[in-house]
Amino acid sequence: MNAPAMQGLNLSAPAYVKNARLLAWVADMAALCKPDSIVWCDGSKEEYDRLCEQLVQAGTFKKLNPAKRPGSFLACSDPSDVARVEDRTYICSAAKEDAGPTNNWMEPAQMRATLQPLFDGCMRGRTMYVVPFSMGPLGSHIAHIGVELTDSAYVAVNQRLMTRMGKAVYDVLGVDGEFVPCMHTVGAPLAAGEKDQTSWPCNPTTKYIVHYPETREIWSYGSGYGGNALLGKKCLALRIASTMGRDQGWLAEHMLILGVTNPQGKKYHVAAAFPSACGKTNFSMLVPPEGFEGWKVTTIGDDIAWIKPHADGKMYAINPEAGYFGVAPGTNTLTNPNCMASLNKDVIFTNVALTDDGDVWWEGMEKDQGKMPDHLIDWQGKDWTPQIAKETGAKAAHPNARFTVAATNNPALDAQWDDANGVAIDAFIFGGRRSTTVPLVTEARTWMEGVYMAATMGSETTAAAFGAQGVVRRDPFAMLPFCGYNMSDYFQHWLDMEHKLEESGHQLPKIFCVNWFRKGDDGKFVWPGYGDNMRVLKWMIDRIEGQAMGQETMIGIAPQYSELNWTGLSFTPEQFKTVTSIDKAAWEEEFKSHDAHFELLSYHMPQELIDTKAALEQRLAAL
Ligand code: GTP
Ligand code: SPV
Ligand code: MN
Repeated sequence: MNAPAMQGLNLSAPAYVKNARLLAWVADMAALCKPDSIVWCDGSKEEYDRLCEQLVQAGTFKKLNPAKRPGSFLACSDPSDVARVEDRTYICSAAKEDAGPTNNWMEPAQMRATLQPLFDGCMRGRTMYVVPFSMGPLGSHIAHIGVELTDSAYVAVNQRLMTRMGKAVYDVLGVDGEFVPCMHTVGAPLAAGEKDQTSWPCNPTTKYIVHYPETREIWSYGSGYGGNALLGKKCLALRIASTMGRDQGWLAEHMLILGVTNPQGKKYHVAAAFPSACGKTNFSMLVPPEGFEGWKVTTIGDDIAWIKPHADGKMYAINPEAGYFGVAPGTNTLTNPNCMASLNKDVIFTNVALTDDGDVWWEGMEKDQGKMPDHLIDWQGKDWTPQIAKETGAKAAHPNARFTVAATNNPALDAQWDDANGVAIDAFIFGGRRSTTVPLVTEARTWMEGVYMAATMGSETTAAAFGAQGVVRRDPFAMLPFCGYNMSDYFQHWLDMEHKLEESGHQLPKIFCVNWFRKGDDGKFVWPGYGDNMRVLKWMIDRIEGQAMGQETMIGIAPQYSELNWTGLSFTPEQFKTVTSIDKAAWEEEFKSHDAHFELLSYHMPQELIDTKAALEQRLAAL
């Protein structure tokens, strides 16, 4: 051990930490990062309150008005640190081909050599928090344990809401249990006696989000925000878990999971993959509209699903998370009343605006309040008025502003959300944000066709990822930034599921594709979306039950206008046509873009998908 650096540093762990590998790793990492102190998080309420108070003292947190928003805080990040950084995210598998063309890759040894000097002394002047967490119900055979070492108290408190975090994890871990080591630093060491000049320390120029799939390690440098820093989420539960799933025969997916119960009490389960900021949280908390009396939608998860084929021939899904890190802008009681109710208390808000009476505000809330607020402090600490917004276009909340809240705050939480066995999936849904071309809903005629549609899914980019916005990019399975291995091998893994489940002689879940985001000539969304998505969900259930005929289209079975329940909504057959029509010329262009996509993914591209494409193009040509 590096003696001078460790001077005065108390390494002793609480007696209940008995895992030898963990103890050795923490000692090694402390020697490398050289923090001033180490805190072993126990996950207690007292600890949470203490860390929140500390964050208030440091200026990172503002305590919100307890009369308006009890137990809640607002954090505003550095403007350079507001979203996941996909161009700084790496999959460092031993072979480049195993990361595939959609991931950044560096040889593991070279990446280790790059990170070593960055991590050396990176926590100087700071505390290192040891944050043990379980992705999935504690002790469940499906769950995996991670331990995050971080110099961010913000990360520690967020992890308590997002995961099963704390002392009980050590009981599961025991003396020799397995865990995924997750190293995190904001990358802003302090010189002796130096104080932070900022309330959101991070490294404005150097960021690395690194995964070593073979050794199952995560190393994150320079960012304190979201999926860059809360390492259980995208890093562990998707990128690392997807590689575990590949090796062990299961799926780690960027999917919400919901339960939907009909008036007769029959319950179905649906898992849906939409890219970041494309409506997963909204759909998972859907409130059925007028015309759906007696129907109930309940949330199992809003972002990630781990799905395993079971001996009974069904696929079972669990939500590995225990909280929501959701998009604030656009959320209101009209679009997502359950979400708004979840946010009444005990919430950490990041990058929303502050009202004059100590509450929060974001774009979209005016729909609830009937008017814009007269004055706010925006997410960057500046005065905001409707006049300023009009003149400069300034947003009060950052478009990727988020809330962190425990799942138990959700009034629509499914009774089985914490069930270690998961729920049996009846249908998969895939959907991107497309203003043209892709119809409201289609059902794949075969598993193969469903995999094709998911593999070629496109979406217009949003603020959830750093970079250009509003351009269509291919986002297969909504997993483009989250698949921890070669994308074409991932397609093959999905195709293999069919054979796996067919062997046990059972029916596979149906696969549907949706697009809530078609726009009219006026540039506005034509489909009302949100709660009205229930109308489409109900049609899917009718299809499962064999109660809707549908009609054949080039890319699958689509509903007839008469098959959707229109009670309480005026939506004309013409409008329906606008969101469901298949434009031949647009699809010819679409297939050209699939060509380019397949070209990029040609290494290990399953031949069946190429054949499926040819068959679909023939159908199109025949139109
Ligand atoms: P991540 O947490 O980034 O993975 O996002 P998400 O997929 O959970 O997206 P979320 O539900 O938070 O929605 C993101 C944005 O899409 C919000 O601004 C919503 O208002 C908007 N949105 C959600 N559902 C719909 C819909 O059905 N129609 C329309 N037009 N917008 C929607
Ligand atoms: C996403 O971008 O899909 C998110 C937010 O869910 S983050 O946790 O930042 O990845
Ligand atoms: Mn997400």
